[in-house]
Amino acid sequence: MDIDFGTYHHSTTVESEKLRSIIYKKFHEAFNYIPISRDSKINILDVGSGLGFTIKIAADFYINANITGIDNFSGSLVDSSLSKSLKNLVTLGITDRCTIIEADIFDYTGIFDLVISNLVFHNMGDRRFNAYRKIYNYIPEYFITGDLFFHNDGNAVQYELSRMADLFKPVCTINVPEISSNYKILVLKRL
Ligand SMILES: C[S@@+](CC[C@H](N)C(=O)[O-])C[C@H]1O[C@@H](n2cnc3c(N)ncnc32)[C@H](O)[C@@H]1O
Repeated sequence: MDIDFGTYHHSTTVESEKLRSIIYKKFHEAFNYIPISRDSKINILDVGSGLGFTIKIAADFYINANITGIDNFSGSLVDSSLSKSLKNLVTLGITDRCTIIEADIFDYTGIFDLVISNLVFHNMGDRRFNAYRKIYNYIPEYFITGDLFFHNDGNAVQYELSRMADLFKPVCTINVPEISSNYKILVLKRL
């Protein structure tokens, strides 16, 4: 199957593929931490779905889920576009339950059981805290975000969790040192 999920910034095509094979397994590990069964007919939102890679991760795990990806195609995934991402869903054969909408998280509204995201918020600076609040307003039971976490005074994850303490509580943090000491997957439960 000829499918292109794109090249991440500061990465090559080959490196991006390698990262994706690690991220795929680690997200499945993360899904196992939450009590939603794999065959549930849940509604999932993928924030910053890019060319559909994170949708595929979720679609392979939650075999009956309906998944919506939103992306504003702002450029952090080289040469991505709505038409390319929709073509990928066709190639994957999952258009009966998955779709992608060109939208910005700050304008998008909806209701979802689970929100996922990969490598989106670290580029937003402090606006990411408003994005977390938007996600809270989608009233998901769980929010799973894989991202790079940086903070000057030491524990970046603790800092991130403290900034969303009125919205989500941590279920677990998955370290992925094969990618970077800064890349983690946070599994969060909505308060
Ligand atoms: C590094 S890519 C990750 C794509 C995909 N999640 C993956 O892992 O392959 C980050 C994506 O987030 C999208 N993005 C950034 N800011 C956004 C916003 N405010 N609303 C929606 N999408 C956004 C970018 O356009 C880009 O496609």
